[in-house]
Amino acid sequence: MATGLLGLGVYAPSKVLTNKDLESFMDTSDEWITSRTGISERRISEPNEYVSDLAVKAVENLLQRHGEGILDGVEQVIVATNTPDAFFPNTAALVADQIGLKGAAGYDLLAGCPGWLYASSQAVGQVEAGIAEKVLVIGSEVLTKIVDWRDRSTAVLFGDAAGAAVIGKVREGHGFRSFVLGADGSGGNTLHMSALASSLPDGTRMGPSIYMNGREVFKFAVRVMDTASVEAIEKAGLHPDEISLFVPHQANERIINAARERLGLSWDRVVMNLDRYGNTSTASIPLALAEALDAGKVGQGDNLLFVSFGAGLTWAATVLTWGGA
Ligand SMILES: CC(C)(COP(=O)(O)OP(=O)(O)OC[C@H]1O[C@@H](n2cnc3c(N)ncnc32)[C@H](O)[C@@H]1OP(=O)(O)O)[C@@H](O)C(=O)NCCC(=O)NCCS
Repeated sequence: MATGLLGLGVYAPSKVLTNKDLESFMDTSDEWITSRTGISERRISEPNEYVSDLAVKAVENLLQRHGEGILDGVEQVIVATNTPDAFFPNTAALVADQIGLKGAAGYDLLAGCPGWLYASSQAVGQVEAGIAEKVLVIGSEVLTKIVDWRDRSTAVLFGDAAGAAVIGKVREGHGFRSFVLGADGSGGNTLHMSALASSLPDGTRMGPSIYMNGREVFKFAVRVMDTASVEAIEKAGLHPDEISLFVPHQANERIINAARERLGLSWDRVVMNLDRYGNTSTASIPLALAEALDAGKVGQGDNLLFVSFGAGLTWAATVLTWGGA
């Protein structure tokens, strides 16, 4: 047996904030945002809607798609998020309670935007070690609650969404074939948000919102999307030609295009939905994957490449052979 993805559900709030809407209260333009990022609009959570709420809705969508039985045997819930409801209790425990998984282990994982891939690797390890039969891996974010709306270079990028996947045993020849995970804390200050009394090494205190050095993150992203992808493909024993679909972190069209070109992939093998959702961090890859599945772009035996980068600085890439459930 191998370990793979048994089911997927997603949720995005219904409220849409377009680039034109942003123009009404920020010194920006639709033309600037679309040409520099590829983003046209993003979804905004309600004031009383938090990460656990979005996560529960993604699980409801999972149940609609796959039936109640999909959660049978789930012994652990991991919520990958950068915007948890609270420091404690952890969001996963709250979600497990609300979806009726009484007694399942629950913990949150904070690893920037690649958090859902990090959590998936955890889940694969738990399943293969015989510790859990199945693990529910959720990426959920309410980033629009932590952006500084006065900072036009970051506020335009992010959106809210959630994705929930069940990871468990699949037939041999399917499932996760490789994981590449990495972090470089020396770049931690380029994408930062304070927790308690955190401050930069020079003593500058950071406010409770996202701080980002966009140019530095951009350079890092272009480099690491390429190297992590190549390493994950090699570790899987494959050639880039054998990748059916590239599902990259939906941060910036120019970053995705650079990775696509270096891997020699045509656009029809790349999943892109950042134009409608922006950067939803840990939810971005499951959200994009769900769209590709719904559009009939993923078939049994297809090799999918996921790659992400984010605050830490962190990166992650994995190759998954679809199907085998
Ligand atoms: C943020 C990002 C889109 C900025 O694009 P860029 O081409 O690097 O733009 P710059 O930061 O060099 O800014 C260029 C100019 O546009 C301005 N600008 C920034 N944001 C703007 C906005 N929303 N609207 C209009 N002008 C804007 C800047 O002030 C700057 O003006 P100046 O030249 O007069 O100083 C880009 O750096 C990026 O995507 N970085 C990666 C960020 C990322 O993915 N983060 C998430 C990680 S998970």
